[in-house]
Amino acid sequence: MNRRFRPTEAIVDLTAIQQNTAVLRTMVPKGTQLCAVVKANGYGHGAAAVARSALSAGASWLAVATLEEAIELREAGIRAPLLVFGSVDPRDCGEAVAREIALTLLHPQQVEAVAAAVAQTRRCAHLHLKVDTGMGRLGTRAVPDAVALAQRAREAGMGIEGLYTHLATADERDPAFTDQQVQRFQRFRQALAQQGWRPVLHVCNSAGVQGYPQYAFHLVRPGIAVYGYPPRPEGAERFRPALSLITHIVYLKELEAGSSVSYGRTFVARRKTRVATLPIGYADGVPRLLSNRGWALVRGQRVPIIGRICMDQLMLDVTDLPQVALGDRVTLLGEDGEERITADDWAAWAQTIPYEILCGLSVRIPRTYIHAPEG
Ligand SMILES: Cc1ncc(COP(=O)(O)O)c(C=O)c1O
Repeated sequence: MNRRFRPTEAIVDLTAIQQNTAVLRTMVPKGTQLCAVVKANGYGHGAAAVARSALSAGASWLAVATLEEAIELREAGIRAPLLVFGSVDPRDCGEAVAREIALTLLHPQQVEAVAAAVAQTRRCAHLHLKVDTGMGRLGTRAVPDAVALAQRAREAGMGIEGLYTHLATADERDPAFTDQQVQRFQRFRQALAQQGWRPVLHVCNSAGVQGYPQYAFHLVRPGIAVYGYPPRPEGAERFRPALSLITHIVYLKELEAGSSVSYGRTFVARRKTRVATLPIGYADGVPRLLSNRGWALVRGQRVPIIGRICMDQLMLDVTDLPQVALGDRVTLLGEDGEERITADDWAAWAQTIPYEILCGLSVRIPRTYIHAPEG
């Protein structure tokens, strides 16, 4: 269905994705490769479009969380090296091998499954061994276990393409824990080197690139900064959010003082109030916590969200802007004149992080791409 019947869209400026990627490249030493993280549908922006833009701006790798996400990119015609961060069931490893998708190596059972698929498809195995240096999530903490896993791959006739870990506190001020994680990572690297392994080493997420370029190793894996939300202050002014969320006023009415708005009557008008209704709600990813707390931009001015946000609609108080008319454009995320609302603002209002805001924008919102890269 190509026609759109609701005046709501997320506009993704692919030039911003390209510029943010280019900025990230300037933040790491020459020769360090960049892997653009496009999991969760490109943090809500659309994985394939973001992937193409990031690749056109100098990223040479892509990463996603699940095998499904990786297959989607391959089916969109994207041939770049592609890593799945998550745990892939041994039964599904063959699918990854057939499509030249790199897997995170975590379990010995994966080795056998990948080796069988390699024998069958005559394709190469792309295995990135994940080790836990302090995140406490995926991967082993024990150096001998990691070496044993690599050894098992060798016995099955395969190489280890990458060795990686994930930083838990790179976005915080205190560097002690990050330094400790990298020291632990070095122990894994050295132990593997003693066995003759020289894998591609990667550690840094966006905050790592900004705060610890000395730990860039061979490859960095930024996600959120690609979308314009650098988690640390270093160089933050050089990034630009790529996504704007736009809707239009579908109803305008005047309520008498004492009238209430929305479920639970949490907003009661203290004066004669002009209420604008927007066709967007929490089913689209607007957090309900923005009820009576968030703001939107109309005609270059900030206006408050009033009453509880509903599943499909929300209301604004536009009393102070008498010129506002039915059909007016409303910016929920993005810029209008001098004013600007970002996913950081939403995150502050909803007590969360911009990541959750961006990947929470639901599939019901059509994405419109502007400034697509050539070719
Ligand atoms: C393993 C791994 N690397 C890199 C990233 C990218 O992180 P960020 O979006 O903070 O740059 C993520 C995201 O959570 C991740 O799980």
